[in-house]
Formats: sequence, structure tokens, C-alpha cells
Amino acid sequence: MDFKKIQQPLHDDSSTLSPVCQQDDKINENGLRPRSLSEYVGQEDLKRGLSLFIKAAKQRNEPLDHCLLHGHPGLGKTTLAHIIARELGVGIRCTSGPVIERPGDLAAILTNLQPGEVLFIDEIHRLSPSVEEILYPAMEDFQLDLIIGQGPSARTIKIDLPRFTMVGATTRAGLLSPPLRDRFGVLLRVDFYTVGQLKEIVTRSASVLGIKIEDEGAKEIARRSRGTPRIANRLLRRVRDYAEVEARGIITRNVADRALRMLEVDEKGLDRMDRQILSIIIERFGGGPVGLDTIAVSVGEESNTIEEVYEPFLVQEGFLHRTPRGRMATDKAYQHLGLKREG
Ligand SMILES: Nc1ncnc2c1ncn2[C@@H]1O[C@H](COP(=O)(O)OP(=O)(O)OP(=O)(O)O)[C@@H](O)[C@H]1O
Ligand SMILES: [Mg+2]
Repeated sequence: MDFKKIQQPLHDDSSTLSPVCQQDDKINENGLRPRSLSEYVGQEDLKRGLSLFIKAAKQRNEPLDHCLLHGHPGLGKTTLAHIIARELGVGIRCTSGPVIERPGDLAAILTNLQPGEVLFIDEIHRLSPSVEEILYPAMEDFQLDLIIGQGPSARTIKIDLPRFTMVGATTRAGLLSPPLRDRFGVLLRVDFYTVGQLKEIVTRSASVLGIKIEDEGAKEIARRSRGTPRIANRLLRRVRDYAEVEARGIITRNVADRALRMLEVDEKGLDRMDRQILSIIIERFGGGPVGLDTIAVSVGEESNTIEEVYEPFLVQEGFLHRTPRGRMATDKAYQHLGLKREG
């Protein structure tokens, strides 16, 4: 596997519908994060399991088993990590895979943990192999194996660590090495949200931010948010701006629709790039199959951005099929773009 390639951060685009965190999301998200499992909308199965594990751990007075959260960007992994710590009633230390450069950096974090605390490592698939190796005994036996000295006189010493709970988050569970993945006792998959759940999130965020919104307005934003809370919250802020300037600040269905149209977000939640991807597959390649790299070159975007940012939603909503020979546009894509299949 080409490690360099994995290390590359996802291309930070600023399109309205990207699920990847943007500058203004960063500023606004903290205030909107639900703080408890009961405030966290949706993911019912996940919440049920998690709350059981948390209860059991608390009853036994033991730290919770290590948890791995995986799911597409913006679905609520970081939010959940904070909720886990809060529900356990313990502190949380946050870091991320690419930030921990050397084994010593991680050793310093681990030895400073308080008993029972949560260590949250975001983008855990981007840890370097030498750092990962330190994690194995730390997670399994709460021990740190440190190598002192160099060459023939080098020796390892073992340091006991406080028992802690590791919470890892990744958008790419498939990139995690099997030995690391095996050390997580609890695997939690965060899924796309339904329109009803997103509507609830939009309504909640509007009330936190003091935005006036009608039920149908919230639903319209929810429908066009690609199953992703981060996008729903971002669209809410953009629609609010529009409503303040054009509609006395109240978000009705009609106001939401006009604002989103202006942002080129169509009624299925596709933006210009999504439509471009589909129309290129259809018009230039007869509907496919066509390889990811060819699509990327044709639309002038990086292939990993297409794969991680655009494709998951297009596949989930049935506009695009992934086949071993490449991507294919579905009948739904033809219909949506108003195009006819040839032959
Ligand atoms: N279940 C939820 N209920 C309410 N709001 C949510 C929920 N999940 C996420 N959000 C909102 O969406 C925003 C993005 O969530 P979060 O930062 O946790 O996503 P993430 O999965 O960590 O994304 P990334 O992969 O980019 O790190 C948060 O600010 C939060 O307000
Ligand atoms: Mg996150």
C-alpha cells in the first residue's frame, strides 16, 4: 500500500455540499454539538448499544472498552466521542493521526492520561506505522514499551499506564491495519441520516441559533442535505443569510427553495459537480462503465475527492453504480438530468 498517498489530506474544497469540514463550519459547529446521547439525533441502534456498554462499564467501575467510530465525514463521529466521555463522566484528550509524528509524541500523551479518561484519536487511519506499534501494548495491556538507548546497548523498559478508553474515528475503516482494528472492542458505524432526522437536527440548530424557521422550511433544507448533519447545519446558515436579506428573516419552504436554488443545490440535494459527474458519464461515455480516474480528469477534480466527497451520496441515492469495470449512471440519473438512454 502506498503510505504517502494515504497520508495526503483530503482536498479541502469549499463547495456548498461538501461533507468535509470547512472554515466556517469549524467556527459554528461547537455550539451546535449535542452534548448527550439523548440529544444526539438518529443512529438508534448505535446509541442503544453504546448506552448499554457505558452503563455496564460504569456499574463495574471499569473504563469502557476501546471504541472505533467509522463513517463518512460530517455524520457525527467527533460529536459522539465527546458524548462518550461526558456520559462516562470522565475527561477527554483529543488528538489526530497526522498530528502524532513520532512514537515519543504518543508516549507523552499516554503517560499524561488520568485513570479512566478517554483518548480520542481522529483520523486514526493516518497514524504512522511506528506510532501504531506503541499503541498495541498500550491498548491491550495498558503498558508502554519504551526503547532506551541505541544499538547493542538498547533495552526496552515497560511502563504501566492508567487504564483508559481509546476512541478512534475514521472515514476509511478499510485503511486501518488489521492488528489495530482488532484491538477495538466496540465497532460503531455511523450511517447517513433520514430526512426526518435531519429535519429534527435543523430545527434544533435553528432554535440554538435563534433562527425563525417553519416546519416545511426545515424539511426542505433536510431533503437537500445529502443525509449529513454538517451539510444540514451549513445550509441552514446560508439560507438564514438569504432569509434575512430577502424575506424578513423567516425561513419558509419557499424561501429555503429559492436560497438553495441560488446556491445551485437542486431538489435532490445534488450540486453542480454531482450533476457534472453524472452528465459526463452519460454524455461522453454512454452511461459507463467508466473508470474513476477518467471521470476525475474529465471534471477537473482529484479522484480521491470524487470517491470520498461526491460518490458516496450518489451511490447511496441510486444515481451511480460501482462495478468492477467502473462507474455506471443509473436510470435514476438519466431521469434526473432529463436525458434519454441511447439504443
Ligand atoms: N446525531 C446528530 N445530532 C445532531 N447534530 C449532529 C449529529 N451528528 C452530527 N451533528 C452535527 O454535525 C456537525 C458535524 O459533526 P461531527 O464534527 O461530529 O462530524 P464528524 O463525523 O466528526 O466529521 P469528520 O469526519 O469531518 O471529522 C456537528 O457540529 C454537529 O452539530
Ligand atoms: Mg470529526
